[in-house]
Amino acid sequence: MTPHIAAKAGDIAETVLMPGDPRRAKWAAETFLKNPVLVNEVRGMFGFTGEYKGNRVTIQGSGMGMPSLSIYANELIKFYGVETLIRIGSCGAMQESVKIRDVILAMTATSLSTPSRGIFKEINFAPCADYGLLRAADDAAQKRGASTHVGGIYSADVFYDERPDLNELMTRHGILGVEMEAAELYNLAARHGKRALAVLTVSDHLLTGEALPSEDRESSFGEMVEIALEAAFA
Ligand code: HPA
Repeated sequence: MTPHIAAKAGDIAETVLMPGDPRRAKWAAETFLKNPVLVNEVRGMFGFTGEYKGNRVTIQGSGMGMPSLSIYANELIKFYGVETLIRIGSCGAMQESVKIRDVILAMTATSLSTPSRGIFKEINFAPCADYGLLRAADDAAQKRGASTHVGGIYSADVFYDERPDLNELMTRHGILGVEMEAAELYNLAARHGKRALAVLTVSDHLLTGEALPSEDRESSFGEMVEIALEAAFA
């Protein structure tokens, strides 16, 4: 047990998928895993452990934003021995070429700041995905025929951004999309020698103002879960 996860040691698999939304953790576990067992519900942040094609996997909510994700990822790594952490979540598109429902595999994650800023100090560390996971996720996405983009994303600190110039700067530098968690996940994985990747589905578009209709969210989310699961056990 940790302050935020009530699971017993051994109840959590070495591979963890992390959606921001705990109810999506429940849905994904019940939809894609065999014999899903609830292993955490502290603060309603559901975690389930089950099997995918014979492999043990946990799906644990991370909450929104890097400080929240940092709590769960730290506890998973330090107390439960987790080796592979894959964020599954939504993002806003920042390029015309990226469409609603597309999948983005985050090769790097740029940020204004992260919870690791106090550790890196003057260093501009470059948080990046595990290459093996990235390649496997791209293979899985291609096999499914998913419209996929591989490249840099932006991990923002605020959803309600008062600095539109920052988003514009990111767009001009080829950043594919914006979300709020991946950069710190990649920092933590690097610090502890673990594998990490963020697989994202485009839920809204910053340039066109479009948004994914709520009735389509589940199927787009499902595609991303399957890509993440295939990548984890490739
Ligand atoms: N901004 C930040 N995070 C997000 C967004 C966004 O537009 N869409 C989905 N996650």
